[in-house]
Amino acid sequence: MAGLFITLEGGDGAGKSTQAALLETWLREQGETVVRTREPGGTDLGAEIRTMVLHRRGHIAPRAEALLYAADRAHHVATVVRPALDRGEVVLQDRYLDSSVAYQGAGRVLDPTEVRELSLWATGDLLPDLTVLLDLDESSSRSRLDAARTGYDRLEAEPESFHARVRQGFLDLAEAEPERFAVLDATRPVDDIAALVRERVAGMLN
Ligand code: TYD
Repeated sequence: MAGLFITLEGGDGAGKSTQAALLETWLREQGETVVRTREPGGTDLGAEIRTMVLHRRGHIAPRAEALLYAADRAHHVATVVRPALDRGEVVLQDRYLDSSVAYQGAGRVLDPTEVRELSLWATGDLLPDLTVLLDLDESSSRSRLDAARTGYDRLEAEPESFHARVRQGFLDLAEAEPERFAVLDATRPVDDIAALVRERVAGMLN
């Protein structure tokens, strides 16, 4: 595979979409072809799974939830991500398997290693070349969400203790794979974060 696979991770309200948009613009200016996508919901099938997993009323058993995210991921990687990477393009993606490990693993009751193995099976072992982790403490995350919207999806509605475990889950992943991760403080000004991201990505372009 000749392309470049970049993922953005972090809690809700950390500014992933803003940073993805800025990085996409810059990459296009560098002459790159960019596929900007997200999980869950990067395909038609994924959009249906997204509605189920985020907006369905009532309880979803933790293993079922993990499988739904993994099913979305398997289809997305097979039909969107791998084909783009095979064409030599840059895939810029909002959330990937680290979200499953942090939310379904560290945040819930499942074993994070098993959750990761499930996603690796689903994707045929596809790992990103770079993962930008926008790190934000759970109370800042909560106040950004409060300011931005009126209703929460199933995960956003979880208590702060859940989001604290998710945050720690992401930080543990970054510590385990420092060469893949760039951890950035999400409370810094948007332009400063964007410059740091560009610096890291610039070194990876052909
Ligand atoms: P996201 O699309 O980032 O939310 P929004 O568009 O509302 O900002 O992600 C949706 C939610 O799904 C988010 O709370 C994190 C969760 N999620 C998981 O729990 N596991 C996963 O594997 C993924 C990809 C997302």
